[in-house]
Amino acid sequence: MSEKNILINNINVFAEETAASKAVAMQIKQAIEEKQSLGQPIILGLATGNTPKLVYHELVNMHKNEGLSFENVITFNLDEYYPMAPSHQLSYHNFMNMHLFSQVNILPENIHIPHGQWKAEELIEKCEDYERKIQELGGIDIQLLGIGRNGHIGFNEPGSTSDTRTRLIDLHEITRNDAAADFEGLHNVPYQAITMGIQTIMSAKKILLLALGDRKSVIIHKALTGEITANVPASYLRILPQIEFVLDAEAAVLINT
Ligand code: PGA
Repeated sequence: MSEKNILINNINVFAEETAASKAVAMQIKQAIEEKQSLGQPIILGLATGNTPKLVYHELVNMHKNEGLSFENVITFNLDEYYPMAPSHQLSYHNFMNMHLFSQVNILPENIHIPHGQWKAEELIEKCEDYERKIQELGGIDIQLLGIGRNGHIGFNEPGSTSDTRTRLIDLHEITRNDAAADFEGLHNVPYQAITMGIQTIMSAKKILLLALGDRKSVIIHKALTGEITANVPASYLRILPQIEFVLDAEAAVLINT
């Protein structure tokens, strides 16, 4: 099978970002309800950043207007800045509370996010615990992902190999620059983060990578048609049977679908 065939099977392009986000939310809703009908929990891997905001907005609407329950939902977030207080306005703890958790009926004990205040000497153990918890629950059913302009997934920056697991990582210059406006200056952006690894992400049963807008078109083209390499961590995903790239027309403009 040529790479092109693999790509065509796994790419879904929508006219604009709302339609793409709704499609992702719908898949998540259906998976939650399917597990509910079996009386089982669902394990969701969740992302932060601008990209998933509309997905969470849709899921909140589905909860409020269509009765979608999150009682059987267990979540593991991809990453968190380090160091970072959970109460900080720009922490991913705060992001998730604001955009999703405080607005649905998820049980607080079912929420897992790497902690930006884990003590340095405990970090390795805490990261291993994070991995163990995911595995003990049977693995991630659906992993939602964005993509950085440097090809990172989670905070797996260029150079992250396919065998990586949850760990502390130094943030790439592009990543810190992209966060500078939110932090009101590059000097305020943390230099490190805790992130699930590429291997953690690739172990998910279904992976939905969402990319929106023309600022993602160059990296999407590179990840989908360039070399499969640690320099572009998202490139590892395209040969996986369980990957689906969900793009809006602007993000897809450089690829031939
Ligand atoms: P963004 O970030 O959604 O804010 O563009 C994506 C990412 O860095 O994974």
